[in-house]
Amino acid sequence: MNDISRAGDPAMGAELHRRGRDLLDRAVVTFNGQAVGTVAATDPEAPALNYDQVFIRDFVPVALYYLAEGEPAMVRHFLIRCCELQATERSMDCYRPGAGLIPASFKVAADDRSLIPDYGGHAIGRVAPVDASLWWLYLLRVYVRATGDRELAARADFQAAIKRILELCLIDRFDMYPTLLVPDGSFMVDRRLGVYGFPLEVQALFYMALRAADELLTDAEDGPFYREAVAGRLGKLVHYVRAYYWLDLGVLNRLYRADTEEYGAEAFNAFNIVPESIPTWLPDWLAEGGGYLAGNLGPSRLDYRFFTQGNLLAVLSGLADGDQASAILTQIGERRDDLIADMPLKLCYPALAGDDWRTVTGSDPKNTPWSYHNGGSWPVFLWLLAAAGQHRGQPGLARTAVARAAERLPATAWAEYFDGPRGRLVGKQARRYQTWTVAGVLLADRFLAHPDILGALTFGEDVAPEQCAI
Ligand code: GLC
Repeated sequence: MNDISRAGDPAMGAELHRRGRDLLDRAVVTFNGQAVGTVAATDPEAPALNYDQVFIRDFVPVALYYLAEGEPAMVRHFLIRCCELQATERSMDCYRPGAGLIPASFKVAADDRSLIPDYGGHAIGRVAPVDASLWWLYLLRVYVRATGDRELAARADFQAAIKRILELCLIDRFDMYPTLLVPDGSFMVDRRLGVYGFPLEVQALFYMALRAADELLTDAEDGPFYREAVAGRLGKLVHYVRAYYWLDLGVLNRLYRADTEEYGAEAFNAFNIVPESIPTWLPDWLAEGGGYLAGNLGPSRLDYRFFTQGNLLAVLSGLADGDQASAILTQIGERRDDLIADMPLKLCYPALAGDDWRTVTGSDPKNTPWSYHNGGSWPVFLWLLAAAGQHRGQPGLARTAVARAAERLPATAWAEYFDGPRGRLVGKQARRYQTWTVAGVLLADRFLAHPDILGALTFGEDVAPEQCAI
């Protein structure tokens, strides 16, 4: 590990890597004698709630780290177990998960004989995960690329699982947009935060899952039929997100003087966004040469908040085009005091406060301004900052951010999140020894030292955007 660490001038020392790795190994969950994932946190003092379960989204950076270390066995077992836990029945019973859904988390039963999934039926707020199936599909693709084990994805049960996810996302729907319509709190932000509708993060994951499906579906049986459906949706999704979610000074100027109440195909302001909805902080916050994808889009609704995970996933996956990707990194760099500050990175910016906080979060005491999801800082995003930055040939920001986090994290027991506009306080209800915090920073350091391992995470040729009806 020492030699590897020296190769690319990492920001973290070998000793810190060793301690982090030790924490990850201690979080491993075994079932039938096989490592199948890691618990969300190993804090000995905080109430476990469901932090003693294997969360699909939390395991992704851990899995990527083990893959980067050339240790794919746990990732393979995890992928197989999730495939087994996927709901398969098309049922009309509202309390059963829809076919295709992969649980948010799972745990080993007390008698050690089975895995118990949670599709949201037990989770705080009873939130169903939309992201888990999408993360699973993406992770499967990274695993296949990193190991060359195409046989796993080609297995009949895996092919069927991929098709179920596609059916869930592509067929039944009330809306007529290329994006995915989802309930509030259905992804990393699993509490009420006004992220119902068409949140950017889910759209980025949707795009990544579609691209993964395109690569992994075989020609067996009706594989080509599904691949064709995927190709059709991808082009439309790419055009739609790039055209309508994008915010920069030029777009803002057009929107500021835009007409409303336009009817028909020629409308410029297709979603009837009212210029008065532009928040006062935005014109000055948009950096010269910067820009980003808005947090959400719907009828008369542009959520102007900057959401870090969605934007970085868009850069890494190529959902954002080349110019947009550069502008997003410029925006983060120019506003580093807001987004990176003393603990990278803000989940979203700015925080909801006052009446907005009361009405949008339902007075959530966990999501007070600059805490938790509502503008709190999450070191797990470091892996994405490093991956996206390296992918675009701009690793500098991540290098400084990793170095700063590496200084503070051990002293703060690898906290889950940090509070305050600059992220100086350990989050009020943050777990200590949060597994994805550890994995996030270790993985970031690996990406900075070894950009070559990123090849498994990125996609090749751009998808040709397809102009849609809107
Ligand atoms: C919190 C986070 C969620 C995460 C879970 C386990 O509920 O909001 O995204 O998966 O903790 O760490």
